[in-house]
Order: sequence, then C-alpha cells, then structure tokens
Amino acid sequence: MKITVIGTGYVGLVTGTCLAEVGNDVLCLDLDPKKIETLKAGGIPIYEPGLEDMVQRNVAAGRLHFTTDIEESVAFGQIQFIAVGTPPDEDGSADLQYVVAAARNIGRHMDDYKLVVDKSTVPVGTADKVRAALAEELARRGAAIEFNVASNPEFLKEGAAVEDFMKPDRIVIGTDSERATQLLRQLYAPFQRNHERLRVMDVRSAELTKYAANAMLATRISFMNELAVLAEKLGADIEQVRHGIGSDPRIGYDFLYAGCGYGGSCFPKDVQALRRTGQENGVPLRVLDAVEEANDAQKQILVNKLVARFGNDLEGRRFAMWGLAFKPNTDDMREAPSRTMLDALWAMGASVSAYDPAAMDETRRIYGERADLQLVDSPMDALKGADALLIVTEWKVFRSPNFDTLKSLLKAPLIFDGRNLYEPRAMREMGFDYFPIGRP
Ligand SMILES: NC(=O)c1ccc[n+]([C@@H]2O[C@H](COP(=O)([O-])OP(=O)(O)OC[C@H]3O[C@@H](n4cnc5c(N)ncnc54)[C@H](O)[C@@H]3O)[C@@H](O)[C@H]2O)c1
Repeated sequence: MKITVIGTGYVGLVTGTCLAEVGNDVLCLDLDPKKIETLKAGGIPIYEPGLEDMVQRNVAAGRLHFTTDIEESVAFGQIQFIAVGTPPDEDGSADLQYVVAAARNIGRHMDDYKLVVDKSTVPVGTADKVRAALAEELARRGAAIEFNVASNPEFLKEGAAVEDFMKPDRIVIGTDSERATQLLRQLYAPFQRNHERLRVMDVRSAELTKYAANAMLATRISFMNELAVLAEKLGADIEQVRHGIGSDPRIGYDFLYAGCGYGGSCFPKDVQALRRTGQENGVPLRVLDAVEEANDAQKQILVNKLVARFGNDLEGRRFAMWGLAFKPNTDDMREAPSRTMLDALWAMGASVSAYDPAAMDETRRIYGERADLQLVDSPMDALKGADALLIVTEWKVFRSPNFDTLKSLLKAPLIFDGRNLYEPRAMREMGFDYFPIGRP
C-alpha cells in the first residue's frame, strides 16, 4: 500500500519505517528540513534501539522515502497518517495547531480519495476538527473529493518502539466508515498474524482510550510513589510491598516501581490534557489532580533528601548524576526528572557532573555550555571528587558498577538512588550511606 506519514518524530518515524518493513511504500514528511536532511543522509534524528538499521534497510530497498514537500506527500499515500506533536497549550489542553495544519495541507492538495488517520495523541473531538478542516479546504477549492478520517492512537514505548510497533498488544481503530476499517485492517494484517489485535470502535472511544491508558499508568506510578514515602516513615520496604501486591493478578507487577517521578513526552502532558477535558466538560477528575500533584512532589524527592543531609546552601558542592533521559533506552529529556533536579541543585549553588548513555547531545542542546554542568564520558568520570551520587535513570549500565571504584572516587560514600537499583543491606555492608526510595 502507499502510505504517507506526516511528522517524523518518535512516533512518525517508527510508524513509517515499520510499515515499510512489511512491504509498504512509505513517504515520510516533516517540515523540519534538518531532520529530513539527516534521514536522507542515512542518519536518524533520535535515539531508538533497532531503528537506524531498519531505516537504512528500507531506504536501500526503495520502500522508505523522506521529503519536506507537502504537495508530493499529499499526492503519495492513499492513507495519510498524522503523527505530529500535540504539546500542552498554556491551559494544559493539547495544542492541536500542528494536527489541524497537517489536515489543512491535505485538503489543499488532495485530488483523489484519502483516508486521514490521527495517530497523534489527541483529545476527544479532534477527528471532527480534522474532518472540518479538510472539508473547509476542499470547499474553498470547490472540490468534491471523498475522504474519511479515522483515529488510530499509538501505544509504542520509547526505548522499545520498534518491538512495540511490530508486535503490538492491541491496535485501536476508531472509525464509523466501513471503507476506512477495511483499509486499516489490510494495512495492519501483517502485525496480527499470531492473533487478532484490532479493536475497532467509535472514534470518540478510540481517542479517549489513549488518554485512559496513559492516565492509568501514571496513576499506578504516583500511587506507589506516595506509598513509598509512607513506607519510609513507617520503616516498611516498598519493594517488599510491590512483590506482595503485584502477585495479585488483578494488580500485576508492571508499573509499580517507586522512583523519583515520571516524565517524558507523554504521561505529563496527557494527564494534564485529560484533566483539562474533564474541566471543560464539568467532570472533575480528582484522581488525576492528585496523580499530577504527587508526581510534581516526587520529582523533588532526591533533592529533599540531599538537602536534609547538606542543608540548602550547596555553594561549592558538586554532585554526580547518573542518567538524564526520562527513562532508559531513549535520548528524550522532555519533562525528565533530571531537569527538575538540575534546576533545584543549580538554584542552591551546586554544580553537577553528569553522564547518560544516550542523552548527552540532547542535554547540550537544552543547556548549552555552562560552568555548573560538566558532561563526562563515563559513569565513573562523573564521580571524581563529587560530594554524592544521584541516580536518576535506571540504565542497565548503572546496575552493577564496581562499588570499590565508586567508593574511592566519591568524596564520601554517599548515594541517593531515585530508581532503587541496589540492595540497601548490601550497600550498608559495603560501607555506603545509601538512600533509596521507600526502603529502609
Ligand atoms: N513519543 C512517544 O513515545 C509517543 C507514544 C505514543 C503517542 N505519542 C503521540 O504521538 C504524537 C507525536 O509524538 P512524537 O513524540 O513523535 O513527537 P515529535 O515532537 O518527536 O515529532 C513530531 C514531528 O512532527 C513534525 N511536524 C509538526 N507539524 C508538522 C506538519 N504540519 N507537517 C509535517 N510535520 C510536522 C515536527 O517537525 C516533528 O518532527 C504526539 O501526539 C504524542 O503524544 C507519542
């Protein structure tokens, strides 16, 4: 099938590449010429395991193409995926300007049937707006061309995006059109050979499903984070509690890890946008208000522990930070807890030496050169002469360090672990002052 994907970010590039991988002819459009140049030159603009090889293979096979030319992209695919960003607006709602602009571009240039598919995470009612924008552009041209709009939210996880797309838990399709259903069923057939994964539903339910999924996951995290704070006070161990409740199949083990808060490009903005939708409709979403409040507090938790130890004048002190990305296996730093911590530490006069396996360039892009941030080439380099180590992202490479070396490099054997990577008792036995989350 001939497919256009609009937006080549984390979602668009993975979608386009995976659809090419199973034999489709795919053209990816982005308005950012630098991204398209990088892709045309055989590179990829993001860090995502397994993606670069797959892009190169499909480009070489002639199935995957990149462009900044809107007319070309509209003419190309019968199916047009909209996978552009939906960042938070000032009031917390999702900013739909990029989605609507993409829809208008299609309406302006299409000259045969198009199925327009919203893959971006968009509030309920967006498909109606996309349909209206297309209809308006067609009317302006006096063109009567048939089209359908469907919702197909994406559930991939950064860091495992290729695997998630190729082997999805479910493929949610929202549409009231039989033609759209048939086209998407055909497109996704290669991804559900093992068993039926398609959930066809009405558009509004599909749009809400994506927010419901992210809000539920964020809720589990905030719930465990608050319990972790309580566990610390009570002398209980949140890891034992996690095992104790996770064994109940109604609860399960996933997404129950206490830590230093969730971040990323999805949970924070999607929780905010869903709360906003609730407000606009006169339906208070009290649970989600608390989820967000708890998360804001949790992002400060390592800094609070550090202040309890050192006081809040950190002038002249330097801290090592392991992990900058909002989670492992990505370079994405949107809303990352590391950023909250860096700001707090800098505000108190401290400097930071930091290491992340993938997010160093992104950190440089965000903060530029500054005297109170030293970006180093290895985890151990960050430790030299530091007052303490803060562990912020649970990259595998941090799980089993040489603790003797670690101890010899730090000024004092002091670790604030926001991801509970080590056993508290073992750490104590090795002579560390070790502060995990929710553990004695
Ligand atoms: N990142 C994730 O893990 C993830 C997972 C599921 C869903 N989503 C959702 O998918 C959407 C995209 O997220 P992302 O992380 O890929 O965003 P992103 O910011 O990485 O990429 C968006 C891209 O769209 C391009 N763009 C904007 N307007 C355009 C236009 N009119 N025409 C062509 N290109 C345009 C931008 O230049 C950018 O490259 C968001 O709604 C997000 O909530 C993201």
